[in-house]
Amino acid sequence: MATEGTPAVELRHVTKRFGDRRVLDDLSLVVPAGRAVCVLGRSGTGKSVMLKHIIGLMRPDEGSVLVEGEDVTALGPRELARVRQRMGMLFQHAALFDSITVGENVAFPLRRHSKLPPREIRERAEALLADVGLAGEYEKMPAELSGGMRKRAGLARALALEPAILLADEPSTGLDPVTSGEIDRLLVELRDRTGATLIVVTHNIPSARVIGDELVFLHEGRIVAQGTAGELDQSPIPLVRQFMQAEGAG
Ligand SMILES: Nc1ncnc2c1ncn2[C@@H]1O[C@H](COP(=O)(O)OP(=O)(O)OP(=O)(O)O)[C@@H](O)[C@H]1O
Ligand SMILES: [Mg+2]
Repeated sequence: MATEGTPAVELRHVTKRFGDRRVLDDLSLVVPAGRAVCVLGRSGTGKSVMLKHIIGLMRPDEGSVLVEGEDVTALGPRELARVRQRMGMLFQHAALFDSITVGENVAFPLRRHSKLPPREIRERAEALLADVGLAGEYEKMPAELSGGMRKRAGLARALALEPAILLADEPSTGLDPVTSGEIDRLLVELRDRTGATLIVVTHNIPSARVIGDELVFLHEGRIVAQGTAGELDQSPIPLVRQFMQAEGAG
């Protein structure tokens, strides 16, 4: 458990190269517990790579990544699994298991990490699906869902263990505005109810305004702007202002 004042997530001088390209370039970021941070930036600028470092799927070439004070880059598989249980991750492309039903996808973390009896797991998974607007889709296979529905199922799975830290990679991309608004509400509600820390990558500026206490703008592997939406609206960097004005983007 984190002691008071320990940030939920901290990246310290993280550099990650693929070939000779520095995708993350001496990136540092502190996310206090309970804060909702939205990560913005152009395509290919390292946003998903950054999330994968936080959840321990990628390791930095230089620097360290702390989750509730623990350096995840130094952990073995067992310790990493323990830290990961505190986190939920919605992957950019939902990453559902194709060979099991949508409901079983959502139930998966509960079967693996909770001691709930099977019937309660089923009920809980059904309730999670209902929360994301997928009531009654339990028995469908992922391939039978639309892209937006898969994304919502991925979110239900990420929320299953009531994570202390939720990482969401473009939760509302590809969703209609109404559904997208519902996802925003769900994230805000989770934070208000459980005090979870949110790190949300999004191209959806209206939803970043709703969700984010703080917005972080990534460019070429570095944070070039950080602050409230109001502060980024006034950024001296034209690209940042351009982004903030692109209200329709999603
Ligand atoms: N496993 C990998 N191996 C090699 N290169 C990678 C790998 N993962 C990401 N990259 C590269 O790192 C860069 C950043 O990728 P990333 O997925 O973080 O972008 P992004 O900011 O999330 O973009 P988008 O908004 O399109 O999702 C890209 O140039 C990508 O090709
Ligand atoms: Mg991405």
